[in-house]
Amino acid sequence: MATERTLSIIKPDGVEKGIIGKIISRFETNGLKPIAIRLAHLSRREAEGFYAVHKARPFFNDLVTFMTSGPVVLMVLEGESAVARNREIMGATDPGKAAEGTIRKDFATDIEKNTVHGSDSPENAKIEVSYYFPEVQVHPYDWKRKT
Ligand code: RTP
Ligand code: MG
Repeated sequence: MATERTLSIIKPDGVEKGIIGKIISRFETNGLKPIAIRLAHLSRREAEGFYAVHKARPFFNDLVTFMTSGPVVLMVLEGESAVARNREIMGATDPGKAAEGTIRKDFATDIEKNTVHGSDSPENAKIEVSYYFPEVQVHPYDWKRKT
């Protein structure tokens, strides 16, 4: 197992519901450290660039409209197998199909307002992290938590 970094986004519905802290707490208690955090309100250009892989999908325009509808929290998470671990903590894309105890099961409204984004592969994680965070804004820390 290797230490990895992955990009996490708390989507506009998560910010609106006032659960930024609860979501970050789930990552921390599951061994993923937020080593960069920034609030942002994405422009259409930024969101289209980020979700470019989905450009041909029927939901692309709605997805971009939703992701630009309010502020989001952009984060880099670091930990063992962070990409897969984050996807487990998030749960399935459709909250109706998400496992018990996952963020999407507990907080998401529907397949669009599904509260969090997470990179889907180590390769995409590298691309997505660098899309939002230059290395100088990423601050790994590796002392053991005392609690
Ligand atoms: P994300 O990229 O946001 O972490 O979500 P994901 O990997 O679980 O799902 P993905 O297939 O990458 O889709 C990206 C986002 O597009 C919206 N979506 N809507 N209406 C639909 O059928 C549909 N399918 C996907 C979701 O908000 C999904 O998170
Ligand atoms: Mg995805």
